[in-house]
Amino acid sequence: MLLRDTSIVVTGGNSGIGEAIVLAAAAEGANVVVDYVSHPDETTSLIDKVEAAGGHAVGVEADVSRPADLHTMIQKAVDTYGRLDVLVNNAGIETRTSLLDTTEDDFDKVLAVDMKSAFFGTQIAAKQFISQGGGGLVLNISSVHEDWPMPGNIAYCVAKGGIRMLTRTAGVELGEHGIRVVNIAPGAVATPINASTEDDPEKMKKLKAAIPLRRMAQPDDIADVVVFLASGKAGYMTATTVVVDGGIMQGSVGL
Ligand code: BGC
Repeated sequence: MLLRDTSIVVTGGNSGIGEAIVLAAAAEGANVVVDYVSHPDETTSLIDKVEAAGGHAVGVEADVSRPADLHTMIQKAVDTYGRLDVLVNNAGIETRTSLLDTTEDDFDKVLAVDMKSAFFGTQIAAKQFISQGGGGLVLNISSVHEDWPMPGNIAYCVAKGGIRMLTRTAGVELGEHGIRVVNIAPGAVATPINASTEDDPEKMKKLKAAIPLRRMAQPDDIADVVVFLASGKAGYMTATTVVVDGGIMQGSVGL
């Protein structure tokens, strides 16, 4: 088992990529804290599923856009498992609005849930890691759009671009404590965030044609990379982004 006794917190852990990370980490022996902000019943059934398979998971209701809630969330890992080893900043939303259409409220929400959460999550986790004597990993689930414009989804791109620089700068600042900070940049993944695309056959046709591997990612494609990065096998990786996108970012339209 690659993550035996690793104490890992997953934000937005009860659906989409987060849920796949919870299941994959628990299957590798990790002790998991599942953060959620809605759907408590789905969280309970996910925890039951982990436990039925012999794993360990607990839930914590915490709104990641509030640093006070992030404290509660990290404390849950420390109180339950005695320490924190990995924080996965996974929770994210998008508004699919252009610059001209994005309201102040849209902007504030996207930046708070996607970026402020990762900033203060990283800060609070780093303080916990240092108080434990160093080591530890922050994994941010970013996006190809940390680097690649997505017209019509601009606040999300701004937030993910911010996470890119958070990872690089925090990784540099925290290296002396043995703390690693790494981004994973997924492409298009079959999760609720992409439901409007999946429900539209025309959009799906175009999307698949733009992906060299000719399929959307499944949440497990991302969770498997999380397991690798959180394991001892990736101990020299920090302050960088791992792209998991089926090649979509290479942008070849094959005209
Ligand atoms: C976005 C999706 C988009 C995908 C590929 C993701 O980060 O959330 O809306 O389809 O990137 O462009």
